[in-house]
Amino acid sequence: MHQILAKQSLSPNVTRLDVHAQRIAEIRQAGQFVIVHLNENSERIPLTIADSNPATGTITLVIQAVGKSTNELVALNAGEFIRDVAGPLGHPTEMITSGHALCIGGGVGTAVAHPIAQGLNKVGVRVTSVIGGRSKEWVIFENELKRYGNVIVCTDDGSYGRKGFVTDAVKEILAKEKVDIVYAVGPVPMMRAVANLTRGLGVHTIVSLNPVMIDGTGMCGGCRVSVGNETKFACVDGPEFDGHTVNFDELQDRLSTYREFEQRSVACARGTCRMEMPTTTPA
Ligand code: NAD
Ligand code: FES
Repeated sequence: MHQILAKQSLSPNVTRLDVHAQRIAEIRQAGQFVIVHLNENSERIPLTIADSNPATGTITLVIQAVGKSTNELVALNAGEFIRDVAGPLGHPTEMITSGHALCIGGGVGTAVAHPIAQGLNKVGVRVTSVIGGRSKEWVIFENELKRYGNVIVCTDDGSYGRKGFVTDAVKEILAKEKVDIVYAVGPVPMMRAVANLTRGLGVHTIVSLNPVMIDGTGMCGGCRVSVGNETKFACVDGPEFDGHTVNFDELQDRLSTYREFEQRSVACARGTCRMEMPTTTPA
């Protein structure tokens, strides 16, 4: 059992939980994730470790409440317990050790970009973070990222920072500064747009993929993605991949297929579901 030691609301549907998980806090590296199992009957939820504190034995999880299980998770309060937290899972982020890195976070993906910026800063890499949200209230982890370098904030509606998508700011930076590597985490259209910007410039670009995961061990196939015409499993081969070789169309397709299940399960949990669960299973 893992106790929740602190809870904080970061944006309208994003919550931060600091959870006791001593061993994971000691050994986790940037880019790694855990699979959380709230109770005996709940689904498994993959969550990137946004931060950790080995001294207090805590890991920071940032949860966007979109489905039944994530809504149940964010309903827990400090002092309550999560049944299982398995990890750290996945490959650590491929790091450079000198030069200039651009860390891009879109929406809740900014929490995933945080440990990458933290890890790069630790080894002496210059970090510029570009983070975005729909409006001011959706911008997260700005102050945390400021510890590691310059932070450029973008909002779609211009209510805070620059007006526009993160890609607008990224385009300008790439035009005037030498950038050795780009890390992008956020919605699939954002990661695809970043990869399209950097491809022609030959700037190595790493994206963190978020397909549906079930077992997290490479056995169920739920997190299958196509990268460079090869089939990969995000849980054991990723979750980070070369953004220039990811098949984003397929990823988007598979995510959309599951969305209907997610919406239906939230409605059923609220007692407002009037239809059968869809029977289509993703290809
Ligand atoms: P959002 O849709 O509000 O977008 C956040 C920001 O991303 C926008 O403000 C904008 O700057 C940028 N963006 C969005 N669409 C863009 C486009 N077409 N071109 C360029 N930039 C664009 O984000 P949200 O609601 O926080 O959603 C987060 C998404 O990220 C979810 O779909 C979630 O599944 C995904 N996610 C991904 C990871 C990961 O590891 N890749 C982790 C957590 C969440
Ligand atoms: Fe099952 Fe990756 S989650 S194969």
